[in-house]
Amino acid sequence: MKRSLIAALLGAAFAAGPALAADNPGAGILKAQCISCHAIAKPDSMTLDRLWTRKGPDLYYAGSKFNKAWLVKWLQEPVRIRPTGEFYTKHVKAGDKEDVVDESTLTAHVKLSKADAEAAADALMALTGPDGLVTKGAFKGDKVSMSMGAMFFNKLRGCAACHSAKPGSGGVSGPELYTAGERLQPDYIYSYIKDPQKIDPHIWMPTLNLAEPDLQRLTGYILQLSASEGK
Ligand code: HEC
Ligand code: HEC
Repeated sequence: MKRSLIAALLGAAFAAGPALAADNPGAGILKAQCISCHAIAKPDSMTLDRLWTRKGPDLYYAGSKFNKAWLVKWLQEPVRIRPTGEFYTKHVKAGDKEDVVDESTLTAHVKLSKADAEAAADALMALTGPDGLVTKGAFKGDKVSMSMGAMFFNKLRGCAACHSAKPGSGGVSGPELYTAGERLQPDYIYSYIKDPQKIDPHIWMPTLNLAEPDLQRLTGYILQLSASEGK
């Protein structure tokens, strides 16, 4: 009786998505140094309250999101991705014309040695999250015109209200996107723009029901921004 209950509980834990193999050396690093701020397994309840109080972005689908080379580099030399950290409203203050980032409340991210960064990145890449979260092969890889891309990003689709396409410009309530091509997998970028709430049910990025050519154009633009180093 007891044994079957334990088996059922274990089954439930594994059904939530790929778990870390016990022999993965990076798994130990994640458990010891990272889970105080990051979820490495899908939380049972994805409430709004959890989103507002979590101390760092979710990492349980890191393997479907990041480029490994970026992870290895960033974990050794972390630089800010979200201009207002986590969570946004806690790190802005009133300015003359608009809210400004309150730098004094932002703290530096933990830094790892090269060996630990490599091990942690391996462990993170094994966390691919629930099936179907990201549509594989969705981005077709066509080159896009940067001026058309910028017009859609800044004006027509309003992305710049929350994101910056260039250091120091654009909105601060979402992650910067000028290094997104280095950081993120193309299909993740596409899937996020298509349906943000599928990835994070309470995230404040609007679902715009964009047409396919729009999704391809914006994904291509964001990827190319990185190649031109946000200039
Ligand atoms: C004190 C809380 C805290 C701890 C501990 C911590 N992080 Fe973070 N982490 C954050 C915050 C906050 C951010 C968002 C930083 C930003 O956007 O500039 C972040 C961002 C990240 C990102 C980028 C995520 C994304 O979606 O952009 C990765 C990867 C990451 N952390 C990995 C780790 C690893 C691996 C460890 C353990 C070695 C760790 N973190 C420990 C708070 C933490
Ligand atoms: C109202 C604010 C808002 C608007 C408008 C908005 N976003 Fe977002 N976006 C967000 C937030 C918030 C996140 C996720 C934050 C997090 O993970 O911490 C996000 C995440 C993303 C991501 C994933 C980035 C990452 O590092 O995980 C991409 C790509 C993206 N947005 C592109 C766009 C594009 C393209 C548009 C315009 C069509 C747009 N966004 C409009 C707020 C916004």
